[in-house]
Amino acid sequence: MRIEEIRIEDLHTEEFVERKVREISSAVGSGLAINALSGGVDSSAVTMLGHRALGERLKTYFIENGLMRHGEPQKVVSLFEGLGVPAEIVDAKEQFFEALKDLTDPEEKREAITQTFYRDVFGQLVRESGARYLLQGTNYTDVEETVAGIKRQHNILEQLGIDTEEQYGYTVIEPVIQLRKTAIREVAKALGLPEEIYNRPPFPGPALAARVIGEVTQERVEIVRNATRIVEEELCETETFQYLAILHEDRVTGMREGKREYGFQVEVRCWDSKDAITGSPTRLRYDVLDKLAERITNEVPGVVSVTYNITPKPPSTIEAI
Ligand code: XMP
Repeated sequence: MRIEEIRIEDLHTEEFVERKVREISSAVGSGLAINALSGGVDSSAVTMLGHRALGERLKTYFIENGLMRHGEPQKVVSLFEGLGVPAEIVDAKEQFFEALKDLTDPEEKREAITQTFYRDVFGQLVRESGARYLLQGTNYTDVEETVAGIKRQHNILEQLGIDTEEQYGYTVIEPVIQLRKTAIREVAKALGLPEEIYNRPPFPGPALAARVIGEVTQERVEIVRNATRIVEEELCETETFQYLAILHEDRVTGMREGKREYGFQVEVRCWDSKDAITGSPTRLRYDVLDKLAERITNEVPGVVSVTYNITPKPPSTIEAI
């Protein structure tokens, strides 16, 4: 089915919210639905729409895949509990790392993440709860990039010919699929979400795995997780579109306290962009870059080199895999 974009200038937020609440209610009927919350603006908006439509018949889950940022599962769940939306953390770390074992090809890693989410984790939650529906925050850009063959976004199923009912045992409901991020931010604000959510920089579905070049192991994710915390602390005031840290596969010779150290390389990216379709590297001040290099090499064990990406999208993409 072809998806028509609703442009921000054509969006009537209140009317959109009411329509989506009605559509979710009538699709789910008197049954149950499960909901995939990651704390990003898309899934948060969908969580509020689902909560309004279904109340207690919506079971919201935060999947702890071991690939999220520091303290993220607990922070997101307590924020939603504060808004009156109960959410449960599902520990699926082992399943994800097992699925990613030995994989180095970007699209194979993305495929492994998709299958672990949809076939294994949500499949099991659906079987256990008796739900027939999964609500999720796919957006218009996700569809576009996947259909164009640039990257398989983790949450695109139907557009790739996947019949979720047949393969996983549930129907996927995607209330914000016609909107791009800026429009979803408007909807999230109208739904009463706090600014820390509706203005949150984007974060990819495959999470930190999108930022590990080569095999995604717990140890390598931990390096990126630590570097990400520093990059976010240092760049959160920049008002840029997105900023991130990437772990390279190759190691390089460095030195510490007069001794050779064959260590890791971290790449920092910071993007100016409107919609993630194109982007250019932010012209960060040198003192900001110096501080990033100093903190990452001092605070992340084993890192001896920090670089800054100076390539626009295209030909780069925003994430590394
Ligand atoms: P790329 O790397 O394709 O990223 O230039 C464009 C935007 O999309 C985010 N991104 C994803 N979001 N699932 C998502 O929900 C994914 O699989 C995924 N891959 C990339 C990325 O962070 C950027 O904002």
